[in-house]
Amino acid sequence: MDDDIEVILQDRRAGLPQQHLDNPTFTACTGALLLGIYRLWTVFALPGFRKVPVNLKVPYLPSSKTQTQNVMKVLRGRRGCLADLGSGNGRLVFAAASAGLRCTGFEINSILTASARTRAWWRGLPACSVSFVSRDFWKTDLSDFNNVTVFLAPGVMDVLGEKLLRELHDEARVIACRFPFPGWPCSTSEGQGLDQVWAYDMRVVRDHLLQAPTLLPKAQTQ
Ligand SMILES: C[S@@+](CC[C@H](N)C(=O)[O-])C[C@H]1O[C@@H](n2cnc3c(N)ncnc32)[C@H](O)[C@@H]1O
Repeated sequence: MDDDIEVILQDRRAGLPQQHLDNPTFTACTGALLLGIYRLWTVFALPGFRKVPVNLKVPYLPSSKTQTQNVMKVLRGRRGCLADLGSGNGRLVFAAASAGLRCTGFEINSILTASARTRAWWRGLPACSVSFVSRDFWKTDLSDFNNVTVFLAPGVMDVLGEKLLRELHDEARVIACRFPFPGWPCSTSEGQGLDQVWAYDMRVVRDHLLQAPTLLPKAQTQ
């Protein structure tokens, strides 16, 4: 039996192109080819992302049904306009629009934007109620919005918090899905675990941070 296995292994070793594996040119070419394929994949699967700093890149993951329901609970009674930062296929935007908010989804991936626009058209939603903009939200002034929803990643929440503190007015409400803003006091929260959402009222956040000015971005303390 042992002899049989030895024979099989010997046959397999003989089948491997060992001279290629030992050849540095072959290894370099394979590496370059794999890198090229990866580059191509990022161009098509993550269009627009090349200009976003690596520490601020956030991949697509749609909100779950429960998470969306939790967002709607903390938006209850809110009026005006809403921005969803990184709107994906538009799930949160469609839910918020059904509650009467004028919604804009900012999405850097043009394939997702196209999909969300098609879904809006299919549902017969007018542009004054729902719109999807193919744009980097880091480069967008958000001061016109009094409701903002975000479902992003833990690593970007600090930086995003600084941007929102600079741009949003006191009456604005920010809803964070799954990942809370570090150091911000939430006004209310819904759900648990992966579906938890936190609502922050900017006036409350500012009042809280003013008591610990080192947490405020520089522009707010001057
Ligand atoms: C976790 S998904 C959330 C999708 C959607 N909001 C939802 O709840 O179903 C995050 C989305 O943000 C988008 N995104 C990441 N960085 C962005 C940026 N700088 N500007 C616009 N969209 C961005 C990604 O392409 C992705 O679709």
